[in-house]
Amino acid sequence: SPSPVTVAVTGAAGQIGYSLLFRIASGAMLGPDTPVALSLLEITPALGAAEGVAMELDDCAFPLLHSISISDDATTAFAGASVALLVGSRPRTKGMERGDLLAANGAIFTTQGRALAESAADDLKVLVVGNPANTNALIAMSNAAGVPRERFTAMTRLDHNRALAQLASRTQRPVTDIRHMTIWGNHSATQYPDLFRAEVGGTVATELVDDQAWLEGEFIPTVQKRGAAIIEARGSSSAASAASAAIDHVHDWVHGTPDGDWVSMAVPSDGSYGVPEGLISSFPVTCADGSYSIVGGLELDEFSRARIDASVAELVEERDAVAGLGLLG
Ligand code: NAI
Repeated sequence: SPSPVTVAVTGAAGQIGYSLLFRIASGAMLGPDTPVALSLLEITPALGAAEGVAMELDDCAFPLLHSISISDDATTAFAGASVALLVGSRPRTKGMERGDLLAANGAIFTTQGRALAESAADDLKVLVVGNPANTNALIAMSNAAGVPRERFTAMTRLDHNRALAQLASRTQRPVTDIRHMTIWGNHSATQYPDLFRAEVGGTVATELVDDQAWLEGEFIPTVQKRGAAIIEARGSSSAASAASAAIDHVHDWVHGTPDGDWVSMAVPSDGSYGVPEGLISSFPVTCADGSYSIVGGLELDEFSRARIDASVAELVEERDAVAGLGLLG
């Protein structure tokens, strides 16, 4: 039987971890033929809670779950990891200044970037979920000397899936009829969910819906603010849907995107579509043979161009702020 793949998960005792780990262990992420060795990273006070999650994972008797290890040391937790899901981060709390937030996450993601470079496997793939995800990924990438930059990605798949669901609902068509959905830019309220390139049953979504007021007044803000709406309704932030999106992101990166479709991933820009090189920004990507490529040659209308530029400007600001704090390696 094939040897297990080591998957490291940070923030393992958190809300997202509580959904994510069980899906990974069930085979939903790497497929039914790949045994998984889970390696959990938590901060010291949460190690007991991580132990409890590990006990529950044991109790599922997942056929594909080879082993579970737990550590509060990043270099130990990332040892031999082929996939690292960086979920744990320092979210903004009441009264916290932007600078404090950036500094707290800077400390986490510089350390984790260095640790990945030191101990992860050569075929490492990194997905950053912890917010601010794009900029945390940039910090980790910049501090992971020797790890190819394209291995660092951040999650906009939840936004992508939310956009699919909203469009399916509006058009009364199954999500499987939709292709070429794209989230551009930052995983934040400035993100641009793009229906001008999306198709429903082969018809361009904006032509099928033909309602610019809905697009601007409902669709875009609903997708952009869905995270806040979930917090409002549930009393805590989206967790199972975030975990599901993380599974989708890594699944497609490893196993490839379907013929004739693409997905949204925040990846280091190669300068495509005027996004400054090296910024971790969301693009339409296709995946094959374990790597992704940014979909090239799309014509952007004025409306989309302006929205993308606004989100990219925010990413530039975030980059400049963390560079100013000396966090970019
Ligand atoms: P949570 O607060 O329930 O769990 C976070 C866990 O991370 C905690 O157990 C904490 O002890 C741990 N942690 C903190 N610092 C750590 C470190 N240095 N090393 C290892 N573990 C550490 O939060 P939840 O709900 O699981 O969310 C996690 C992150 O994901 C948040 O930053 C949240 O904003 C973000 N998120 C991102 C989404 C996206 O679409 N990109 C969607 C939803 C959430």
